Amino acid sequence: MTTVVTDNCRGCRFTDCVTVCPVECFHYDDQMLYIDPDVCIDCSACIPECPVHAIYDESEIPEDKREWIEINATRSRETPTCADKMEPLPGAEARKAELGY
Ligand code: F3S
Repeated sequence: MTTVVTDNCRGCRFTDCVTVCPVECFHYDDQMLYIDPDVCIDCSACIPECPVHAIYDESEIPEDKREWIEINATRSRETPTCADKMEPLPGAEARKAELGY
């Protein structure tokens, strides 16, 4: 089992999730974050931290977001580690409102 970042993160990248992670499982690109399933200890601490509800436990991920399990596994191997909070992406607040949060 692992924890998975999904499409609501894209265009936001608030990184509140990173601040509570006890291991360095988060990776980033210029759009969003991804969780390395081999590093994640499945503590779920990050799930309630995301202001746009982008993070799910793998066992609870909605059917239409299941593709993100593989995307996280793949992209986390291709991208650098995110160990510290970063500035949200430009337009993050607008996207958050668009998502209904
Ligand atoms: Fe993305 Fe939410 Fe973390 S927007 S960077 S999953 S706090």
